[in-house]
Amino acid sequence: MDIVGVIGGTGLGELVDGGETLDVTTPYGSAIVTVGEVGGRRVAFLPRHGAGHTIAPHLINARANLWALASLGVRAVVSTTAVGSLRPAFPPESFALADQLVDRTSGRADTFFDAGLVRHLPFAEPFCPVLRSLAIEALPDAAPRATVAVIQGPRFSTAAESRILREAGVDLVNMTLCPEVALAAEIGIGTVTICIVTDTDSGASADDPDAVTAELVFRRLAEAKPRIVAAIERIVVAVPSEYTPRPLIDDEAVAALRALRVAR
Ligand code: ADE
Repeated sequence: MDIVGVIGGTGLGELVDGGETLDVTTPYGSAIVTVGEVGGRRVAFLPRHGAGHTIAPHLINARANLWALASLGVRAVVSTTAVGSLRPAFPPESFALADQLVDRTSGRADTFFDAGLVRHLPFAEPFCPVLRSLAIEALPDAAPRATVAVIQGPRFSTAAESRILREAGVDLVNMTLCPEVALAAEIGIGTVTICIVTDTDSGASADDPDAVTAELVFRRLAEAKPRIVAAIERIVVAVPSEYTPRPLIDDEAVAALRALRVAR
């Protein structure tokens, strides 16, 4: 595997040295990907919300995005995402590695295995354990394990929704990791995700200055950008060239899927 995928915010495009931006056509629509180098490693960078940050979380064409990366030969994705925190153990401005997902989204196109080919993804462990171990070593200051609930958005949670998630054992809240991580696994790509804690979601108290607003999320992301870029670089260069993801879906199914969709 000579190319690592990176999925992140629009402002991270400059991460890639000497990048060429491609409009990759897929059976699900097209995706904008910049191919270049990070730390001497070939990387395909995909801005999750589009080149100009115009795509709302619930409207992201995750199937086109993951299909585009797979068609470029990507088998490992390092992703970053903003999250709200439900616990003091994950303070604003800290980083955490996602470990478990709770899918609270609805109505998103969330599988490649629908018409024509049925498979059921084993998803007890959504993130690749090999990439997570590399990331734990590369980012010793990041919390190593977080359970992330993915809400539909684009609105943030009510106080009651936050409380229910916290009481259910959720650590962090986000709007984009579902269906992205499952689609990656379905098409034979392993994922590790660095969560950037930007806020305390609906707030620890009525006057909590870290309670979420879109302005706070964008400000904290901008402030953290040099740390985010450094973190991605550290993981990307640590991915071994012989890396292959866990075979969650057999190669024959992925090949059949490609043949079926491309033939349409
Ligand atoms: N992204 C960043 N902060 C968030 C929050 N509080 N809820 C959902 N997504 C977020």
